[in-house]
Parts: sequence; C-alpha cells; structure tokens
Amino acid sequence: MASNIIDKLESLVPELTSALGQASSLEEVEGIRVRFLGRKGLLAELMSQVTTLAPEERPMVGKIANQAKAAMTSLWEDKVTAIKSQKQQHGLEIFDPSSPSWRPDLGSIHPITKVTREICSVFTSLGFDVVSGPEVENDFNNFEALNMPLEHPARDMQDTLYISDSILMRTHTSPLQVRTMLSRKPPLAVIAPGKVYRRDSDLTHTPMFHQVEGLLVGKDVTMADLRGILTAFVHKVFGQDIKVRFRPSFFPFTEPSAEVDMSCVLCGGTGRKDENPCRVCKETGWVEILGCGMVDPAVFAKVGYDPDEYVGFAFGLGVERITMLKYGVGDLRMFFENDLRFLGQFA
Ligand code: PHE
Repeated sequence: MASNIIDKLESLVPELTSALGQASSLEEVEGIRVRFLGRKGLLAELMSQVTTLAPEERPMVGKIANQAKAAMTSLWEDKVTAIKSQKQQHGLEIFDPSSPSWRPDLGSIHPITKVTREICSVFTSLGFDVVSGPEVENDFNNFEALNMPLEHPARDMQDTLYISDSILMRTHTSPLQVRTMLSRKPPLAVIAPGKVYRRDSDLTHTPMFHQVEGLLVGKDVTMADLRGILTAFVHKVFGQDIKVRFRPSFFPFTEPSAEVDMSCVLCGGTGRKDENPCRVCKETGWVEILGCGMVDPAVFAKVGYDPDEYVGFAFGLGVERITMLKYGVGDLRMFFENDLRFLGQFA
C-alpha cells in the first residue's frame, strides 16, 4: 500500500517536468500548477491517502511527499521566471494573431451638418445650386444692399458683432443673395448654407448658429411659387401630414414678407392644453420655421438687376431649430457641447 503511494509520488516530478516542458504561456503554467499542486490536485489527492496507511509507515511517506512538493514548486517557479524573462527580451507580449484587435472609435456626422445636407438635397433636387461665402462680411453685403442703410432701425434687430466700422461677422446668410446676384445673371436658383453670428447668448440663443438661405430670380415668379416650394420642402423633411401656413411679416429686403409656420410635430397641431401642455408650440399648435418673401425691388436696384424685368423670392431658415423639431432635441446647447453620447445617436 505504502509502496504504491510512494511510486505515484515519485512519478509526479517527471510528469510535471514534461508538462512544463510543453507549456509556453503563463496561463498554461498556472493550469499545470493547479493540476499538480492545487488544493484538489494530484499531490493533495495522494496526501489524503496517507491516513489509510499504518501509523509506522506514515512518516516516511510524508517525507517523500514533502520532497516531491518542494521539487515541483521550484520547477514551477523556474518555468514562470523563464517565460517572464523571455517576454521581456522580446519587449512585448507574445503576439497572438487570432486575438481580436482594438475596435477603432468611429466618428459620426454632427446633427447640424446632417440636417444641413438634407435641406440642401431637397432643394438641389428641385434644381437649386449650392453656393457659399465668407463669414466675415462687409457692411454693403450684410446690410446696405439688403435695403438696410446705416441708421436703419432694422439693424438693431440683429445684434451685430463688428470687426471694424464696415467689416462684421455676417448676421444672416442673406449676404449670399447679394453675392450671387452680383456674380450671376438671372434666371437663377441658389441655396446657401452657413454659419451666422449675433451678439446674443442665453438658453435659446447662441452667438453662432446656422442658416440656410434660398434665392430664386426669374421673369414670372410669384408668391404662389414660393409657397409651393416651401410647402414641398416641409413635407419632404417632416412628412406629408404637416400643415403649413404663411403669416404676414416684415423684412427690409423682401416685400411682401411672410413667416412660415408648420403644425406642431410634438402635439400634432392640436396645441394641447391639458395637464400635459405642449411645450414645443406653447399650446398654439404651430411653430415658426422660417422667414421669406418676394425680393424687394430696392435690392434688385442695388445689385444692378432691372426691377421692372425681374422678380424673385428669398427665404432663410435656422438649421438648429429645424433639427430640434425633427429629432425632438429640447436644448439648443446640446449642439455645441459635443457630448459623444448625444452625437453618437446621429451615427
Ligand atoms: N435673413 C432673415 C433672418 O435672418 C431671414 C430671411 C431670409 C427673411 C430671406 C426673408 C428672406 O432673419
């Protein structure tokens, strides 16, 4: 009985030696330690059988078991040291071509860019060209040519950021109307997206925001054309069920002028007043989305178009506002904080 256990104990060391010889990673070596030296390992198993031996046989078997344990522990430690130093010599973890690599972080298109592109594509599909111009403008393009001479009260509406007396950050994309008409001959139809700047900053205003300008000039253009095109635009972006209404308004560079409202996307135009009143339309059922009108003949005169020969319409819309309505974004500041948890939702 004792000789049987002793044989087994003595075979442990060569078995461990051959197992370690085939191992090449720390994980494998740890598995071998558990198998031979672990609490339920081969050595522990043999030790538990010592109690079945006659009392006088036990000390000798115990001694052999302890020698085997010491030998195996030191063989195991040598192997761990060898693997670690080999890795250090290579200067890197052993390369495993089957292990998954890092997943690169992919960016996403900013919601304002996404909606700007969508707006532009609606109009390009109707035959409009996309144009652009500088954010730093001169007084003539931003105000003067748009029928807002110096001292004109409408300039106060715009909280201008001036660079010098006659150079400023454009307060709207309407200077693109002027630039387009100065450089092209009618008939023309353009759409102009871009950043605009105003000295204004609170919960619902940021000093920089985005607009898209539209301008169409030809010979028999009417307000009905304007209405048809803008209605088609709203239906394309928000769906066919949305109602559109034109409300008389004023802009110095259009006459007549209108503001366009669409039925509220949140309450479906009902203007809900119950215990959960609609916050988007302030219980009116309508939300304002853009300004527009027929190009004022005074503007044509400034850019050298014959006001008796040509008519046109223009419109300007705020991209942040359209995006908030389209995606139900409640806070304007989300567009500028660049929180990846927000931006990633538009991927
Ligand atoms: N430029 C005007 C604004 O920023 C919008 C507008 C554009 C109105 C074109 C009429 C025609 O408020």
